[in-house]
Amino acid sequence: MRYFFIGYLVVVTLVIGALGFRGDKFSKPPIRLFPDMDEMDKVRSQEKTVFFTDTMGSRLPLAGTQPFGYDANAQDVAEQNQVTFSGLEGYYNTGHIGDYYGSGMPTELAGSGIELLKRGEERYNIYCAICHGKNGNGQSSVPSQYGIPGVANLHQFLEADYPNGRLFEVISHGKGNMGGYAYQLPIKDRWAIIAYVRALQVAKQAPINQPAVKQAVEEAASVK
Ligand code: HEC
Repeated sequence: MRYFFIGYLVVVTLVIGALGFRGDKFSKPPIRLFPDMDEMDKVRSQEKTVFFTDTMGSRLPLAGTQPFGYDANAQDVAEQNQVTFSGLEGYYNTGHIGDYYGSGMPTELAGSGIELLKRGEERYNIYCAICHGKNGNGQSSVPSQYGIPGVANLHQFLEADYPNGRLFEVISHGKGNMGGYAYQLPIKDRWAIIAYVRALQVAKQAPINQPAVKQAVEEAASVK
């Protein structure tokens, strides 16, 4: 027992000797067993760096790249900088009217017609079809390959009980196993996808070669 206490005393002395009392101030840097990211290579703005041969710390955008939130295909400069992802108010930007999900298409999209739908088809096929399937029935083979269960059948979410604002919310922030697309899809593209999902739902309910269907599909994308 005596040896235990002597040993204990030695250990305590060593630990306090090496680490000091709680709250002690040191003039030297602390001992870091796991330095994690305490120090990292970085360039402060406007500073020089030896990393690049021209020693310029602040870099120009790479040729052929586009800054986030900027659309080089837009018609003029004002429009180029109008690609918004979030931070603004109103039905168009949030899918909400007051505390509720809004329905119909926002007035901001008036007149965009069939172009919006085409854009929606393209974006849907890029961002949604891999899970929800090209026709929206949730039967794509990809999710089961990668273990994503319970992909929703989009034909169950008709506007009558699942308003467009709610669709906007799910696209923006996701739900359950589905992640949100607020950082990939600008606001306008989300609405384009909503229009296309509505068009898929309409098309599903009627034979394809009827003029009435074509008209309904176009109406689904127009402002109500
Ligand atoms: C990685 C696979 C994946 C992708 C990509 C994906 N989803 Fe989903 N989605 C899911 C899963 C899984 C669910 C079921 C989520 C739940 O209910 O837990 C779901 C659910 C939904 C729902 C129903 C939500 C509800 O209220 O029950 C809608 C609507 C939807 N997705 C639309 C979209 C749209 C539009 C896109 C494209 C922008 C998209 N999803 C992209 C996997 C995906």
